[in-house]
Amino acid sequence: MSRVYDDEQLAGAYERGNEMPEASLRAWVELIASYVQRTSPSIVEIGSGTGVFSAAMARWIEGSEVMAVDASEVMLAEARRHHPHPAVRYLSGEAEAVPAAAGTFDLALMSRVIHHIPDRARAARELVRVLRIGGRVVIRTTFRERLDALVYDFWPQLRAIDEQRFPGEEEVVGDFVSVGFTLDEATSFAQPVATNLAEYHTRLVSRPQSKFTHLTDEEFHRGLVRLEATARSEALGEPRPVLERYDVVVFSRL
Ligand SMILES: C[S@@+](CC[C@H](N)C(=O)[O-])C[C@H]1O[C@@H](n2cnc3c(N)ncnc32)[C@H](O)[C@@H]1O
Repeated sequence: MSRVYDDEQLAGAYERGNEMPEASLRAWVELIASYVQRTSPSIVEIGSGTGVFSAAMARWIEGSEVMAVDASEVMLAEARRHHPHPAVRYLSGEAEAVPAAAGTFDLALMSRVIHHIPDRARAARELVRVLRIGGRVVIRTTFRERLDALVYDFWPQLRAIDEQRFPGEEEVVGDFVSVGFTLDEATSFAQPVATNLAEYHTRLVSRPQSKFTHLTDEEFHRGLVRLEATARSEALGEPRPVLERYDVVVFSRL
């Protein structure tokens, strides 16, 4: 199947364009770790992209072993290059067919990937298979009803596009509960991704997210000019960090 992240330009841009300060990444890993119920856990990240979260979990969750699975060979190549770690194995695979034996993992992370998966119920069934009893799934996403990212201020047409792309919370919860998961928690968490708008602008120049593939070059450029102008006027006053909020839902396999 042809997928947007097989595009080498997007895969190459993703790593730098989606960086976040170390303190933010650490805060995310601490939140994820709070859902792990065993010491030295076995973790799978589905749709691991360039490996930022997989490597960070291996680094900060003591004794953890991480299998990082992605459907895109080009993203896996970026991950192996940018985020190698002795406790992380980067493997080619799909959410719907995880290359692991039944009952292998204590935790599965799906960060910014649920909207790319056409058959969520099938992916959820696959997670039931590969998780141990008591294992958990952490989904980090933006649900359709809470699309409030800063990008929509500069590319307003993206909101309607993302309303089509992102599932709602009820749909995702329904798919996971229908295959036997129990919903433990639905929350949200915000962390700074850039120290100010100018840094955020620099990050977005390379068009590093799949949502931007839905815009023409001209539409993208117009939004970027608006963002740059706002960043310039902000620079005259007190710079404010740019926050990104994500929804987090956690399920248990009983
Ligand atoms: C937006 S990136 C997220 C990367 C990383 N998890 C993060 O939060 O930065 C989405 C990733 O999911 C992968 N992906 C999309 N559909 C997938 C599927 N069905 N199975 C496994 N990976 C998939 C893409 O190749 C891409 O690397």
